[in-house]
Amino acid sequence: NLPKKATIIEVGPRDGLQNEQKFVDTEVKKEFIRQLASSGIKEMEITSFVSPKWVPQMRDAAEIVHASPAGVRNIVLAPNRRGIDRVLETSSKAVAVFVGVSNTFNKKNINKSTEESLKELKPIISELKEKDFFVRACISTAFYCPYEGKVVESDTISLCREFAEAGADELSVADTIGMAVPTESFSLFSKLKKELPGTLIAAHFHDTRKTALANIFSALQAGIDRFDTSAGGLGGCPFAPGATGNVATEDVVYMLERMGVETGVDLDELKKAIDLVAPAVSRPITTGYYQLSGKP
Ligand code: HMG
Ligand code: MG
Repeated sequence: NLPKKATIIEVGPRDGLQNEQKFVDTEVKKEFIRQLASSGIKEMEITSFVSPKWVPQMRDAAEIVHASPAGVRNIVLAPNRRGIDRVLETSSKAVAVFVGVSNTFNKKNINKSTEESLKELKPIISELKEKDFFVRACISTAFYCPYEGKVVESDTISLCREFAEAGADELSVADTIGMAVPTESFSLFSKLKKELPGTLIAAHFHDTRKTALANIFSALQAGIDRFDTSAGGLGGCPFAPGATGNVATEDVVYMLERMGVETGVDLDELKKAIDLVAPAVSRPITTGYYQLSGKP
């Protein structure tokens, strides 16, 4: 019993590009975002207000928000108070904060312990809710950490609960380095669905070990109908060694639609978005649907 519909949350403009060493022209980013919206994407992580010293690729965040498409939930990431203050100077109405279950990862990623991040972010979430923002909390290293190895499932659930209780509208639960397998995906997502019925839950898979589609299928069976994906399979966290791309939007849309799960995303229009960004990125697009589109 699969859901009739699923929501694709496109993260290509943010997760897809943040790991690119060469700066992708702001105009290319804007065109990419516009074309993703034209393909039917309704929710998208468009940029992040992080330190330009840490992630130079995201230094044009304010300009990107300025050009964000209408009719789309345009989400921006922010790691701390300074990031939120920068967001508040823009027209943005949807913010994602992020934190790692693994302390070591969180330190490498945002230079704080998980506990320190939680303490800093809780009042920020309340403030954003008072200001009528949609608030997403990205929970990194929910299954495995590149530094600490296997993450204890109950630790992930506890952290998710903290963010849900702090007022986050949505949790994006991430397999940062693509090590999870379908049994782990089913187990964690079934428990989260049961324990946090009032919170939206999205699954964020990286396809490092080619288990992402299988993990999505088992998450669907656990009742999840929201998936973070990246056009062209671009992506990776600069502070998680070995992290490669997110699961590709086109491959997820293809699989879901073929199984009768509606996504509202048009694959031909999505391919045009990938064509726009492909010349600006350092790696070839090797995802299944992109290479085979148009062929029987
Ligand atoms: P820090 O060096 O500890 O920061 O970095 P600080 O508070 O000491 O400030 C140092 C300087 O940076 C100061 O400027 C601040 O004003 C400035 P200075 O006085 O030296 O001129 N600064 C900022 N500037 C702009 N925007 C800001 C900001 N904050 C401080 N927001 C910090 C701490 C959090 C800033 C840094 O570690 C950082 O930017 N990290 C971001 C890392 C990142 O972008 N990671 C990727 C996203 S997470 C991800 O990909 C995972 C996900 O996809 C899910 C998954 O797959 O797991 C979401
Ligand atoms: Mg990610």
